[in-house]
Amino acid sequence: LKVEALAQLEQVSDPQTLNDLRVKYLGKKGALTEVLRGMGGLSAEERPIIGQVANDVRGAIEEIIESKQQAFQRAETEQRLRAERVDVTLPGRNMPQGGVHPLNKVIAEIEDIFLGMGYRVAEGPEVETDYFNFEALNLPKNHPARDMQDSFYITEELLMRTHTSPVQVRTMQSMRGEAPLKVICPGKVYRRDDDDATHSFQFHQIEGIVIGENIRMSDLKGTLLQFSREMFGSQTQIRLRPSFFPFTEPSAEMDVTCVQCGGSGCRMCKQTGWLEILGCGMVHPKVLEMGGYDPEKYSGFAFGMGVERIAILKYGIDDIRHFYNSDMAFLKQFARN
Ligand code: PHE
Repeated sequence: LKVEALAQLEQVSDPQTLNDLRVKYLGKKGALTEVLRGMGGLSAEERPIIGQVANDVRGAIEEIIESKQQAFQRAETEQRLRAERVDVTLPGRNMPQGGVHPLNKVIAEIEDIFLGMGYRVAEGPEVETDYFNFEALNLPKNHPARDMQDSFYITEELLMRTHTSPVQVRTMQSMRGEAPLKVICPGKVYRRDDDDATHSFQFHQIEGIVIGENIRMSDLKGTLLQFSREMFGSQTQIRLRPSFFPFTEPSAEMDVTCVQCGGSGCRMCKQTGWLEILGCGMVHPKVLEMGGYDPEKYSGFAFGMGVERIAILKYGIDDIRHFYNSDMAFLKQFARN
């Protein structure tokens, strides 16, 4: 039995057969178990001798099974290690790199300029109440100037904000009458417009507001000149033209001299040599009051600009829709500067 078992076990080359053989010899109905079971019929002298032999046989079989098992395990581990080997000397795979969207780039640039002048950045909800978007900005219901900003209403009291000025009101109120206040508010705004090369129902604005004692129109003009030169080049000139906004008095529109567009030339330059880029003015006393400031004690200025328009002028872009349709050829031009 031993010789036969050992010979068979010696030749085993896979774990399954090994297990079958273990059952065959050592299992409940195995050959060796049978021998042990038959011991009852032996004489008292024979029993220890046969028992001894049977135990030796079992020991020998167990030993060879054990060593075979270990060998199989080693082989399996080795094979796995070989299969999972990583060649760390192989060159890496190139991952395509994303870039900052040109609009976000311009927003960051404008933010940087104003942060450098001591402003902080405030944000607010895109779904706004009629109160913050219009009423607190001196645009009561049925005011004709509401037509200047055709709106997407959600309910009678809720709409998609038409400008980021409501964030200025929210910020004013959060200050509880404390000055100075200097913030800029970037964000998406929505107006009912038919999309074309120069219009989009959704675009971006950055508006700014300063409130303090003795804030004058000359402060506004100096601030805007500094901003324009940092944005468009140190030679840039500005001019203010009288205008109207319900939330500012007096109100103005600001033009800058033609921007240097770089290699492709400056197509956006008008014959007049001036380009309109933003609206501004001195904060209306009623708006100060609704924002929680005493108009007798404090004054302020505010301005607001369209980010797309600035980006179009700065980079010489011919169609506002380029910003929104995720055309890689367009976006890649901005990936690296
Ligand atoms: N909120 C105005 C607009 O969207 C811009 C503006 C802001 C004008 C602040 C004056 C002062 O048209």
